[in-house]
Amino acid sequence: MKIFTGQANPELAHDICDALGIPLGKSMSRHFSNDNIEVQFQESLREADVFIVQSLAGNGTFNVSDSVMELLLMIDAARGASAARITAVIPYFSYARSDKKDSPRISIAARLVADLLETAGADRVLTMTLHSPQVHGFFRIPTDHLSAEPVIANHFITHLSNLEDAVVLAPDAGDIKRASSLAERLGAGIAFIDKRRVSDTKVEARGLIGDVKGKVVMIVDDEISTAGSLIEAVGVIKEAGAKEIHVACSHGVYVGPAVERIAGLDIVECISTNSCYVSPEKMAACDKLKVLSVAPLFAEAITRIHTGESIAEMFNA
Ligand code: R5P
Repeated sequence: MKIFTGQANPELAHDICDALGIPLGKSMSRHFSNDNIEVQFQESLREADVFIVQSLAGNGTFNVSDSVMELLLMIDAARGASAARITAVIPYFSYARSDKKDSPRISIAARLVADLLETAGADRVLTMTLHSPQVHGFFRIPTDHLSAEPVIANHFITHLSNLEDAVVLAPDAGDIKRASSLAERLGAGIAFIDKRRVSDTKVEARGLIGDVKGKVVMIVDDEISTAGSLIEAVGVIKEAGAKEIHVACSHGVYVGPAVERIAGLDIVECISTNSCYVSPEKMAACDKLKVLSVAPLFAEAITRIHTGESIAEMFNA
């Protein structure tokens, strides 16, 4: 088994290797002056079970397109270097939000990226908390879909008391199933917001379903990007009388004004996992940001894929 990383979030790959007790494989990646990317493995992959860790996210110097392209090139290079099996480990699959034709003449990018991974030579995909679970169906190669829910649930179980009197809030209808599953795990109540997206950066809340008056509320989303949805959600539940607000997302993408917006909100904390790289500058700019590690979760899943054990059993707690 060999683990390699792209440039989007090498810290997570290092943490996964630490959890597995193996060194990270040696590879290099560079941009030519014409902006083309070249990747090269610097050790043999012949007949190895290869895992390439790459979130489809930017990291300040590397943008989302670079991350996608670098991953495709790494898969192609691994195939050419005679790897026995190649698993694309994609903790954050960003194009998952483009999963339907909801306006005329647009592409369904999530399906296209899934096809590209297969064309490049990936044998399997390992990912976590897709924007909508049905995106799983875009992959024709075996795909294991992990959930950050146990990690987020453990945080709340450890840090909050009286969970039976608290409420998990889905900030839009798409999050209801996830929120309901977390609420059941925590023994908490559930509420949701009827949200409409006006533009890429602006959303509008049309109503709140459920009771949050005087309650501790945990807002749970799959990702926070610009934090526009979060601002709306916090405004709605503050007005409805929420006593204390905690926020959790699987993917802390935090683009544009997100960190500044979160710093200005009346919330206790904003938790994400380390599926996306959150820079020290962002962490320093907002003391409400907390990052939980999913490295042990991925290490366990990688071990099970390598040895042919069930991944489903990881979630049958
Ligand atoms: C949308 O349907 C998603 O579940 C998230 O709510 C959305 O991606 C968050 O984006 P932003 O932070 O830019 O509002």
